[in-house]
Amino acid sequence: MKKFITLYRHIIEQERKYPEATGQLSDLLADIALACKIISLEVNRAGLIDILGFTGEENVHGEKVKKLDEFAHETLIRAMEVSGHLCAIASEESEDFIPVNEKYMGNRPMSKYVVHFDPLDGSSNIDANISIGTIFSIYKRISKSGPGTLEDCLQKGSNQVAAGYVIYGSSTILVYSTGEGVHGFTLDPSVGEFLLFYENIKIPKKSKTFSINEGNYHKWDEGLRKYIDSLKAENKSEGKPYSARYVGSLVADFHRNLLYGGIFIYPADTKNPNGKLRLLYEANPLAFICEQAGGRATDGRRRILDIEPENLHQRTPLFIGSEDDVREAESYLS
Ligand code: AHG
Ligand code: MN
Ligand code: MN
Repeated sequence: MKKFITLYRHIIEQERKYPEATGQLSDLLADIALACKIISLEVNRAGLIDILGFTGEENVHGEKVKKLDEFAHETLIRAMEVSGHLCAIASEESEDFIPVNEKYMGNRPMSKYVVHFDPLDGSSNIDANISIGTIFSIYKRISKSGPGTLEDCLQKGSNQVAAGYVIYGSSTILVYSTGEGVHGFTLDPSVGEFLLFYENIKIPKKSKTFSINEGNYHKWDEGLRKYIDSLKAENKSEGKPYSARYVGSLVADFHRNLLYGGIFIYPADTKNPNGKLRLLYEANPLAFICEQAGGRATDGRRRILDIEPENLHQRTPLFIGSEDDVREAESYLS
């Protein structure tokens, strides 16, 4: 019979492998899980209470902010800043990073972590009941003490000590990695626990699925157009044509490709010369998960995790998923 393993037990077991660990990282992951349970409830209730619709304000990217984006952002901060383990928080929904108030650090020898999140990913899909999610990533601070600094927040993705995402879909699922493989948990809403459903997820090396917004075809460079054309051409020996799957929620598209194999692309185009997705809140955490699962994540040329960020909301093109497919895509780019 399958054993019940809760998220918290799993995290603690992982931590036991490191005798020097202080438990702070486990606490932070538990705080994220708590926040995401609350967000999950609110997402499920969204049709019932008057939370859908625009607030009428724009975020730093010039996009309309929905009430659920704000709710998710605030919930994560409320659940996380009190832990005493954080010195700074950066969120897609906030222009500047949020240095954690020293009152929460008072009785701690050192608040040594920084967290980044995309509180609600795929928010344009909320009203249509399509899966949306939360993406998070955790780093160790660089500065020595006091509230966190911009330098603490602008680290390359290879410095991540943990990353993951939660999907609010037909069920609520949390996937995380601390650099020891990728593990997935399903929320049992009746007991309020995330239970292990998939330990050590590995992405297939080669796939039969591509995910890209093809409406932008004429804005892409020629190499990318040729690559996508090649996926659609009849070529039985290479397993082509591929299937197209794209819902417009990065977490949902990525999660499906992680389990079944696939390549997700959000490229640079004539409208968005740096692509659309954000390095710190979207690309880095998913690249960390993808590599831990045996996949590949680049901007078409460089490994995502090696990019030195210059600002908090920097964008990057993203090619992510099954290794052979990402390499093939790269070979077409000029
Ligand atoms: P967010 O809701 O956090 O702003 O992210 C939306 C992103 C991502 O989830 C998705 O992959 C992409 O936008 C879709 O963009 P297009 O509509 O341009 O395809
Ligand atoms: Mn997003
Ligand atoms: Mn978002």
